[in-house]
Amino acid sequence: MSNDLTFNLFPKQKKAMLSKADCLLYGGAAGGGKSFVASITSIYFAYNQPNLQVYIFRKTCPAIDATFLSGSASFQILLEPLIKSGHVKINYSKRQIAFSNGSMIHLSHCATKKDLDKYQGSAIGLLIIDEAGQFEESIYTYLKSRLRIAHEIRPEFKDVLPKVLLTSNPDGVGLSWLKRTFVNFCPDDKIKKYKSEFTESRQFIRSKLSDNPHLRDTDYAEQLKGMGSPELVAAYLNGDWNVSLNSFFGNSFTNDNIRDPFQIPIGWKKYRMFDWGYSSPFSVLWMAESDGTLASHKGKQINSRRGDIFIWAEYYGDDNGTEKGLKLTAEQIANKTMAFEELMRGSLYAGAIQAGAADTSIWNAESNGVSIEATMRKHKCTFVQANKAPGSRVLGWQKIIEMFTMAKNPMRESGGLFIFNNCHRLIGHIREAPRDDKKLEDIDTNSHDHDLDCLRYGVMMKKKSFKARQF
Ligand SMILES: Nc1ncnc2c1ncn2[C@@H]1O[C@H](COP(=O)(O)OP(=O)(O)OP(=O)(O)O)[C@@H](O)[C@H]1O
Ligand SMILES: [Mg+2]
Repeated sequence: MSNDLTFNLFPKQKKAMLSKADCLLYGGAAGGGKSFVASITSIYFAYNQPNLQVYIFRKTCPAIDATFLSGSASFQILLEPLIKSGHVKINYSKRQIAFSNGSMIHLSHCATKKDLDKYQGSAIGLLIIDEAGQFEESIYTYLKSRLRIAHEIRPEFKDVLPKVLLTSNPDGVGLSWLKRTFVNFCPDDKIKKYKSEFTESRQFIRSKLSDNPHLRDTDYAEQLKGMGSPELVAAYLNGDWNVSLNSFFGNSFTNDNIRDPFQIPIGWKKYRMFDWGYSSPFSVLWMAESDGTLASHKGKQINSRRGDIFIWAEYYGDDNGTEKGLKLTAEQIANKTMAFEELMRGSLYAGAIQAGAADTSIWNAESNGVSIEATMRKHKCTFVQANKAPGSRVLGWQKIIEMFTMAKNPMRESGGLFIFNNCHRLIGHIREAPRDDKKLEDIDTNSHDHDLDCLRYGVMMKKKSFKARQF
């Protein structure tokens, strides 16, 4: 950098700043130096590449001001020598930092899709999103589509710019797409190419609190240790991406709620539940209610309590893990669902499967005058109307938490809730479900909640029969 401007990044930060990946996620622990690397990366490129347009996003303006325009790591302090020498000017009202070489750092916010209109005409050379977990995937995709450099790029940056740097805690409404796009796709900090209609290289650098020497010897770690469950502390300290910091179901859902598949005894009631989706995913879940009779798996007896609920199969209608709908017709979904049911017969269940609860909207007539429900019923895929009374959403989540918790009590007096380990998507969505930060007793509806809705319809359906019974 300039002779006047020296920063000592620690090794992981340096690796992140100089990465040649098109898109990089630097993420994990709280206090892992994420926002700092965002600031220094923006300065490094703006200073060294003339005319570069750098955009740093946070969700809200107060978050920008608190992170980038106040405190000892604010831009005005980091850039002090250049401000003094007249090479940099900060316009606080516009939240813009202008460099004398024509480069600009825009400190921007984007809380909802409506805010995107402001960036329609923008050409972004370096896109940085700090706390990307707070952003919906569609906002990320849109901002990424603004990446473009029309001016000359210096030779040393030709295979580096334009690029994206994301930072995040394992948290928020964006947790699911961050995990899918980075954490699971390129888990070992190597650059990996993603090929579909376009090709992009991706990298994930896991940040831990212990990487940051500036907080290592403080009592910051001790403060975090007091913040809650061991899982939560692991997420804060080590950036454990299997734990969501504001996970709605939190500790109520653990490995004890996950079961190896077994054949559902013939006497147990079995249901299929449904949540419709076309451009967004649809979800079918199969549920069974134990009557207390023994089940068995590979010669081993499986005990259950009368009233226990098992979700034993799922059919999640998205395009290859993308959370984009398959755009199937009602007839296609019904046929595929029934074919799937036939495939599972004998191995997972015997006997009949009954109509379970589905979102009431499928009873509405479509443009051809026929409802989705009627079309599906014609193909033997039947449902009953889910309880959608006012307040049923929150009541349903409470019931699920109650049953997850109850499942861990061997002396339980009412049913527990268990999920077979073949229901991968449902398990992922339960773990990742973010709390609505405006309505704390609810799940953020911008998250992937189709199969969670389905689960809720099922659990609410049999509300009475789950009440305490004599064993
Ligand atoms: N290379 C560095 N040189 C000097 N100080 C640093 C460096 N990296 C991080 N810090 C300091 O360590 C502290 C934590 O860093 P930072 O705020 O960037 O972490 P974070 O991962 O964004 O944290 P949070 O999860 O709270 O958002 C800050 O005080 C920051 O100024
Ligand atoms: Mg930060």
